[in-house]
Amino acid sequence: MAPPPPPRRASEPEPSRGRPRPEPTREIVLVIDPVDITGRMARLALASDDRDLHHCTTGQDAMVLIHQLQPDVVVAALDVADLPGLRLLQAVRQRAPRAVLLAIAGTPTVEGAVQALRAGAVDYIGRPVSPGMLSEKVARALGDVRAARQLSQAQRDSRDRHGFSQLLSRSPRMLQVFDAITAVAPTDATVLIRGETGTGKELVARALHEHSPRSSHPLIGINCGAFTETLLESELFGHEKGSFTGAIGKRQGVFEMADRGSLFLDELGETSLSVQVNLLRVLEEMAFRRVGGTEMISVDVRIIAATNVHLEEAVRSGRFREDLFYRLNVYPITLPPLRERTEDIPLLMRHFLDDAAEEYEIPAPTVPPETAALILRYRWPGNVRQLRALCERWVIQCRGAELRPDLLPAEIIGRDVSTEAPGAVYIDDSIPLDQLMERVGDQVERAYLHRLLLRHRGHLQHTAAAAGTTRRTLYTRMKKLGLDAESYK
Ligand SMILES: Nc1ncnc2c1ncn2[C@@H]1O[C@H](COP(=O)(O)OP(=O)(O)OP(=O)(O)O)[C@@H](O)[C@H]1O
Ligand SMILES: [Mg+2]
Repeated sequence: MAPPPPPRRASEPEPSRGRPRPEPTREIVLVIDPVDITGRMARLALASDDRDLHHCTTGQDAMVLIHQLQPDVVVAALDVADLPGLRLLQAVRQRAPRAVLLAIAGTPTVEGAVQALRAGAVDYIGRPVSPGMLSEKVARALGDVRAARQLSQAQRDSRDRHGFSQLLSRSPRMLQVFDAITAVAPTDATVLIRGETGTGKELVARALHEHSPRSSHPLIGINCGAFTETLLESELFGHEKGSFTGAIGKRQGVFEMADRGSLFLDELGETSLSVQVNLLRVLEEMAFRRVGGTEMISVDVRIIAATNVHLEEAVRSGRFREDLFYRLNVYPITLPPLRERTEDIPLLMRHFLDDAAEEYEIPAPTVPPETAALILRYRWPGNVRQLRALCERWVIQCRGAELRPDLLPAEIIGRDVSTEAPGAVYIDDSIPLDQLMERVGDQVERAYLHRLLLRHRGHLQHTAAAAGTTRRTLYTRMKKLGLDAESYK
C-alpha cells in the first residue's frame, strides 16, 4: 500500500477543488493465461488484501479487462491462442502503457527473452511457473508501481502545497523546511540556509526567491569560496577602471546586479575576516563603494546566505565574525542530511533514474530489494548530489536490466573485497554479525577460488571443473570478486 500522506498542519489551506483525485491505492494485477491452472495458482500466490487479482484466458477478454481495469501489473503468457507471442505484449503495451509487464513463455529461449524485454516486459518467466516465483516477481513489480506512485504524489504535494516543483520530499523534517520557506519567502528577512554538501541549499535559495515578491527581478548567486580575497571584493562590490592590476574597465558587482532582487551568498563560511567586515557594513547599510571608487551606491537587495560550515564553531575558533553571524542568522533553515531522511531515498532515486533514463533514452533499471537495502544503509556523505550522480551512472550501466548489488560502488557494498589479499578472510568486528556473514561469504569464495586458480595456473576450464561450476559462472564470479586469470598464468 502507498503510505498515507503526511499529516496536514492546521495552518495549511484545504486542498483546492478540482484538484486531481488521489491515485487509487489498491493495486490491480491481471493474469492472462490460457492454462487455467496458472490462474488458480496465481490466486493462491497473489491474493492479498491490498490488491485485486483478475484472470482471463484469451487475448480478446484481456483487451476488454485492460480497458475496464487499467491494471498496474499484467502477467501475460505468450501462448494465448488468439494473440500469440509478442502480439499480446504489444497489444497490452498499447492499451496500458503504464502497466508493468511480465511475460510467461511455454518454451523459454534467449531470443524470446530479448524480444519480450524489447517489447516492454520487465521479466521473462519460463514454464513451469511456481507460486513462490510468481509471487516474488509480482511483488517486485508492484514495488516499482508503488515507487512511481509515491513519486508522482510527492511531486503533486510539493507543487500543490508549496509550489516547489524541483524540491522533492516526503520526509516530515523536509516538509517542515517547506513550511519554513512558505513562511519566510514573502518577507525581506535575511535567510541563512545550513546543511551538509549536496542537501539542496541552492534549490531552497531558488524556491525562496521564486516565491517572493522579488521574483520578477534577478536572483544573483555568488560562490564566495571560489575567489581570492581581492577578487571577491571586486565580485561583490564591483570596481572602477584601473583600481587594481587587471581591472581593465569599470565593472558592476553582484550587489548592484541583484538590485530589487535577491542575492545568494553561497559558501559564506569560506570568506576571510576582512571580507566579513566589509560585508557586515554593507548588509547594515545596504550601501557601498565600488573597489577604487568614491561614490556611495545604495541598493535594495534581499540576502539569502548558505553554508555547510558549522558557523558557531567557526565563531568560537575566531574564523567567522560573531556580529556577521548574528546579522545573517535572522531566519535559519537547516536541511537534514539524506541519511536522516531515508524515506526520501527511494523517492529521489526513482526520480533521478527516470530523469536519466529520459535524457539518455535508455529504460530505467529495476531495483531489487537486496540492492535497495544496501542503498538505504549507506551514509551518503555527498547527500542528494551523490545519489543523483550514481543514478545517472546506473542507468547507463544497467541499460534497462536490474541494478544488481554487485554493480554498487564498493563504499556502498561495504568493504571492497577486490582490494584485499585474495587468500585472506578478514573478521571486521565493528559491524553486526549478519553483515559480517554476508561479507565473509564473498571473502571465503574469493580465498577458495584463489587457491584453485593457483593450483590450475589460471586455467578457467580446469578451475571451473574443480569448483563444480561452469566456466561462464566462474568467470562472472571472478569478475565480481576482482580475480584475474592472467595473474595466475
Ligand atoms: N529535495 C530534492 N529534490 C530533488 N533534487 C534535489 C533535492 N535536493 C537536492 N537536489 C539535487 O541535488 C543536487 C545538489 O543540490 P544543491 O546544489 O542545491 O546542494 P547544496 O546543498 O547547495 O550543495 P553544496 O553545499 O555542495 O553547494 C542538485 O542537482 C539538486 O537539484
Ligand atoms: Mg550549493
